Amino acid sequence: MLQWKLFAVDLARRAGVLLKEKFNQKHEIHYKGEINLVTEADKMSEDLIIAAISQKFPDHGILSEESPVITGVGKLRWIIDPLDGTTNYAHGYPVFCVSIALENEGIIVLGVIYDPMREEMFVAVRGKGAYLNDKKLTVSHIDNISKSLLATGFPYDIRESKENDLDYFNSMALNVQAIRRAGAAALDLAYLAAGRFDGFWELKLKPWDTAAGCLLVTEAGGVISDIAGSKWNLQSPSLLSNNGLIHEQMISVLSSKS
Ligand code: IPD
Ligand code: CA
Ligand code: CA
Repeated sequence: MLQWKLFAVDLARRAGVLLKEKFNQKHEIHYKGEINLVTEADKMSEDLIIAAISQKFPDHGILSEESPVITGVGKLRWIIDPLDGTTNYAHGYPVFCVSIALENEGIIVLGVIYDPMREEMFVAVRGKGAYLNDKKLTVSHIDNISKSLLATGFPYDIRESKENDLDYFNSMALNVQAIRRAGAAALDLAYLAAGRFDGFWELKLKPWDTAAGCLLVTEAGGVISDIAGSKWNLQSPSLLSNNGLIHEQMISVLSSKS
């Protein structure tokens, strides 16, 4: 495990440095949908990460946002978001990260999230805790949803689908201290692990948005489910995560949306 961890931390840092170097330059923007974009920097970060994994671990599978799936021969698979927060990045809003997770027989065993603007490296190993720049993380102790700071985000089909989180957002906004929509789901989860947010929910996230962040949260003592409180997995259509103390309260508010 140590060799995978050191490898992933080094890789996330190298990809993050690349993203930071290109951050203030003009970006080539391509649209994957009406508001869903990708830049040349997403691709460069991804190329760097995939090339390094393929060279060092040619048997491993790779699921990465902007590339075709690479099927491995063994039980190990890397799940990668080469740039989470790409809309922020394209607009020059400095909130984005690299997310790298390692899955072993369907279980996430390693999660690394790197924010190059703040030089914050979040690392979790299953059963070994979650860390930020080597400092151990624990989730917050807020037990009253009314005093909680939450995070969420909206799916790219917000204009086309009624399942767009706006009704949940309305209900939640009236029951909490504040909600942030920072635009990088992986970083939201890392911040929850660090106790900066007390809870998070979002619809229609993809495995690369959540794989590393969810391990960070659980290793920091937090909980994960879907928004109804049922068991969550990487394919679940919704995610609810928090410090464990406001779990039932969040489910109650989300279930009462108008
Ligand atoms: C997006 C961000 C955003 C979330 C979207 C994601 P991307 O990922 O995490 O916060 O609301 O659902 O798709 O496109 O920046 O990698
Ligand atoms: Ca993402
Ligand atoms: Ca991305």
